[in-house]
Amino acid sequence: MTDSSKPGNAAGLPKTTEAGVSRRDFLNEITFAALGIAAGGSAIVTYGYLEPNVLFEPPTKFRAGAPDLYPVNTVTYLPEQQVYIVRTREGFYAVSAVCTHLGCITQWKPEAEQIACPCHGSKFRADGRKIEGPAPRPLPHFSIGLTPDGELQVDKLETINPNQVLRT
Ligand code: FES
Repeated sequence: MTDSSKPGNAAGLPKTTEAGVSRRDFLNEITFAALGIAAGGSAIVTYGYLEPNVLFEPPTKFRAGAPDLYPVNTVTYLPEQQVYIVRTREGFYAVSAVCTHLGCITQWKPEAEQIACPCHGSKFRADGRKIEGPAPRPLPHFSIGLTPDGELQVDKLETINPNQVLRT
């Protein structure tokens, strides 16, 4: 039996601490803190689940600037678009920089005047025609034209005959 006239409980511990917090209050605070952490974690997981899982890619149709930016007989790589803008005396064409073998990004080698694939050694001419290597096809040409205000515009969704050249 316990002595109910003395403060404390059956174990002889006081019901309140010196700061005045009872065991019941302490357990309530722990419970609410645990529930708060669990609710916060659930909210984060739910938000992550509901957020759209979308991959943002650059638009397939893009402006490539004024024709004067590209000197005659040059190959200019546009890294964001993975496209070469090639200007010859005849005009402009846009060539894909993505290798037709397994999709590596090719590199223009001005010293050799070739587009080379670093992965398995395919080589192409500046106009995309294959020279050597495992690539099964030439690099495709994309539609290229001029905007109403005179800038080059490339549409990567539309491949065209490699003989088509934009004359300016
Ligand atoms: S990916 Fe270009 S040669 Fe293999």
